[in-house]
Amino acid sequence: MIYKEINIEVESSLGSSKIYFGNDALQDFSTIVEIERYSNVLVLSDSNVETLCLDKFLKKVKLEDVHKFIVPSGDVAKATEFLEKIWAKLLDINADRKSLVINLGGGAIGDLGGFAASTYMRGIDFVNVPTTLLAQVDASIGGKVAINFSKIKNLVGSFSQPKAVFVDVGFLETLPERDFRSGLAEVLKHGLIKSSDHFHELLKLDFSDYEPKDLLNLVYNSCLIKSAVVSLDEKESGHRKILNFGHTVGHAVESISQSTKKPLLHGEAVVLGMIVEAKMSAILGKISDSYFSIILDAVAVLGFESKLNFECEQNKIFELIKHDKKNYGSEIKWTLLEGIGAASYDQKVDNDVLEEALKFILI
Ligand SMILES: NC(=O)c1ccc[n+]([C@@H]2O[C@H](COP(=O)([O-])OP(=O)(O)OC[C@H]3O[C@@H](n4cnc5c(N)ncnc54)[C@H](O)[C@@H]3O)[C@@H](O)[C@H]2O)c1
Ligand SMILES: [Zn+2]
Repeated sequence: MIYKEINIEVESSLGSSKIYFGNDALQDFSTIVEIERYSNVLVLSDSNVETLCLDKFLKKVKLEDVHKFIVPSGDVAKATEFLEKIWAKLLDINADRKSLVINLGGGAIGDLGGFAASTYMRGIDFVNVPTTLLAQVDASIGGKVAINFSKIKNLVGSFSQPKAVFVDVGFLETLPERDFRSGLAEVLKHGLIKSSDHFHELLKLDFSDYEPKDLLNLVYNSCLIKSAVVSLDEKESGHRKILNFGHTVGHAVESISQSTKKPLLHGEAVVLGMIVEAKMSAILGKISDSYFSIILDAVAVLGFESKLNFECEQNKIFELIKHDKKNYGSEIKWTLLEGIGAASYDQKVDNDVLEEALKFILI
């Protein structure tokens, strides 16, 4: 079994952040992080990760004397209530500016813990140890940290790079299938916007029978794509916006679905967003209809729904899209496909194109 041990450098104006990748990624954790330098260490996790990964993690990194803070699992924790609780915990353990937060968990933990660390005492260090596929290929990399507010995804947040990211695919062994699939959405996105090879690699995987080690190349290549894009444009003034493909509509339907019987996971919502935004690209002649069909087939092969699982009026989606952080004033800016493995950003699109494309996912 061959694992890759590769460090990916994310260049940042706030310092660079390294990604350690492979089954021994955590082997030199304490040395790499320079744990001795920190006066206090707080490990943040959610209730599932506490049960399934926390002991494994502490054993691997040989850490005993650390504080722990556990929040509920899922996006519900990305809220002011839990942000305050983390600040209170940090204060309670006398965390000073030389303290460290370790985010052990999925994207929700990375977003919440990263934001808590980046705001406590004007910012203390944090590292990410992602335990979901989605967090390993996407959320843990790039320094976007946030909580949700007033039912709007990631409304309050900042850019703050983790000191380091440790990607150990072994954690994926316990990941439920639905969460695993949710992560595949971001892998699919990376292929569609940046690399047709990556797109085809993804479709080659046998999802009825895989082990975490089979995912190494895919995860690694997605990490490479994400970090390369972020390195070019950390604060999202240009090129990084291609990573928002599928997310304008995706975030809107994800938010709306939170008050339905079966809320969509982030990746599931992003797939629906990618369908709409790919359809918009097809209507505008940026991609061919046959390429759009290939994308729809890929969505089906990966086991995603291609329609919303609840009834929803278009207006509700429009209303949320208007609040998207990518807009300037009242103008909505779109990331669209420009062929296989290529995307453009800041695209203006007439409302009737959006309306026509949205019909694709409405029931
Ligand atoms: N900051 C970014 O750049 C960025 C990018 C993409 C997504 N996100 C955010 O990430 C979040 C979604 O990420 P996610 O899908 O990882 O969600 P998540 O953190 O909610 O994790 C999904 C579920 O998996 C469980 N879990 C985590 N690791 C596990 C393991 N090893 N075994 C078993 N269960 C495990 C969690 O408890 C949770 O129930 C959203 O809030 C989204 O907005 C952020
Ligand atoms: Zn995403």
